[in-house]
Parts: sequence; structure tokens; C-alpha cells
Amino acid sequence: MIDIINKIKDDFWTLLQESNSPDKIDSLRVKYLGKKGDLTSLLKQLASLSIEEKKSTGALINQLKDDITLKLEEKFKYIEDQAFKTQLLNEKIDFTLPANKIKKGKLHPITLVNNEIQAIFQELGFIIAEGPEVENDYYNFSALNFPADHPARDMHDTFYLDYHEPRLLRTHTSGTQIHVLEQFKPPVRVIMPGKVFRSDADISHSPVFHQVEGLYVDKNVSFSHLKAVLQYFLESFFYKGASIRMRPSFFPFTEPSVEVDVACVICKGKGCSMCKQSGWIEILGAGLVDPNVLKNVNIDPDIYSGFAFGVGVERLAILKYGINNIKLFYDNHNFFLEQF
Ligand code: PHE
Repeated sequence: MIDIINKIKDDFWTLLQESNSPDKIDSLRVKYLGKKGDLTSLLKQLASLSIEEKKSTGALINQLKDDITLKLEEKFKYIEDQAFKTQLLNEKIDFTLPANKIKKGKLHPITLVNNEIQAIFQELGFIIAEGPEVENDYYNFSALNFPADHPARDMHDTFYLDYHEPRLLRTHTSGTQIHVLEQFKPPVRVIMPGKVFRSDADISHSPVFHQVEGLYVDKNVSFSHLKAVLQYFLESFFYKGASIRMRPSFFPFTEPSVEVDVACVICKGKGCSMCKQSGWIEILGAGLVDPNVLKNVNIDPDIYSGFAFGVGVERLAILKYGINNIKLFYDNHNFFLEQF
């Protein structure tokens, strides 16, 4: 019996050395301590021994049982510790690695240009007002002295929202002039930024774009005020000494009306592909507020006069930053936006 016990002890020891996973330790536990395990069957064999032998051999077997239990627990703990240490080693943080780049947000070029325009006009004492993007015919057209059959009302340019009671997406910011003059009596100096909508799209036109409207109404406002303000604005926005020129034009809501050009900001007037070799770039529409518009908001045109202008923000941004496709403003790709 003693020999068997010693043999079991030796075998266990060898197997324990070879077992290096929690699973293997568990099979050892079953093999030696389980219901049908080696030690259990040894204990059963005690029945055939004398009382004296039962006592001494039984004690030996129980001692072995305790030893095996302890050894298995120790080995199990050791395996777990080793696994944890390896895990820690693998998870080690290398503080010398370069950090991930943090992408910082930037203001969109349209926002930058809008901010700059607003800052320039605020210096001149203009306040800022915003009007609704959904207008009706009255604010977008009639109050601005558009005759009933004017081609600009054509479905071609204007997005109508309903047919019978026409609401529409404003085609320009000029309607905000009417909203402002309904609420404030002259003197009024205001610029009105906002989105406008036209059914038109190509490399230089987007169906949604941004305008800034300007309006000054007071006693004795003349064409020279308009010219001086626009000269100041364009020089501040582009560069000191930028020449401007005015060409006669037509808008229903201004009389006289002009188209304002600035000397090409790319070639400084020498002629290039941007200005189609003319040396000039058309930049905004302007004029003196038509007396009919003043009458529509109950301002007496014999006492008051004013000037108004409207400028496209994308156009200013394209010229300022040398951008060749208007779509870039709306795609919002990081490689584009990062540059500003
Ligand atoms: N509203 C005109 C346009 O969109 C621009 C303009 C504004 C012209 C004010 C004259 C005065 O083309």
C-alpha cells in the first residue's frame, strides 16, 4: 500500500510539473481528487486492512490528499499570475511614440469673408440685420418695384414653394431692405447678410449662395456717398489702392443702377484668365434707392434718399483666396477647409 501511495505521489509530481494551463490543472484535480479519482479508490481499499493499518495508511492517504490539494491551488495561482504579468507586459504604453494628430476646427471661408465684411461696415457705423429665407412675392419682388411681368419672376430663376399663394425662397437679400425700412425710420445704415436661392448650377453658380446687402437711407444721401463707401470697402477687403469702376446697369429697385468692377485682384489689371484678359472683375450691383421703393415703406422720397448694394460672398471669397470651383465651398473636405 505504501508503495502505491509513493508511486501516486511521484506520478502526481511529474504530471504537475508538466501542467501549465488552468485546464490541465483541473484535469489533474479530477484524476486525483475526483469521485472516481486515484485517492478515492485508495481510500476504498482501506476496508480490507486491519484497524492498525487503517489508521496509519489512512493518515498517509489523507496527508497526500491535503498535499495534492495545496499543490494544485499553488500551481493554479502561479499560472494565473504569469498570465497577468504577460498581459501587463503586452499592454505596456510607450510614451515615446508620437501622439495622434488632433484635427482642429477652422472657420469656413464663407464665414471668414462674412465676418470681414461685417467688421469693415461696422467701422463705418452700419448695423447688421437678417431677414427670412422664405419670402413672398411682395418682399422679394413687388415692394422692390419689379413690374408684374418682370423676367426675374420667371419660374426659371425662382424656387416657388407653393403655386396659389406664392411663397418662395428669396432670390436675393434685397427683400430685407423692405423688412428693415418697415421697422426703422431713417437715418438707417444696415448690412444684411444671408443665404439666397436660384435655380442655377455650374462651375461658378450654386443654387444656394450667400449675399450681403447694404443700405443707407438718410437726408441728402448721394451717389458720391455710394462710391466712397464701396471704394473704402473694396480697398479694405482686397488691398489698399485697388481701383474700382462703375458701369451703368439696371435693377428695378435702384435708379440709377450700376455694376461695380474691381481691378483684377490676380493680375492687378494687366489681364489674365481670371478676368478674361479684361483687367476687371465684376463684383457687385448697386445704385440709389428707387423713389418707388421708399414710397412702398412710407418714406417720403422728396425728403429722403439712399443707396443700396448687393455683393456675392462666394465671389469675394473666390477672388480673395484664388478658388476655382464654387462646389469646394459646400463639399466640406478637410483638405480644402484646413487651408484657411
Ligand atoms: N439684388 C441684386 C442682385 O441680387 C443686387 C443689388 C442689391 C443691386 C442692391 C442693387 C442694389 O443681383
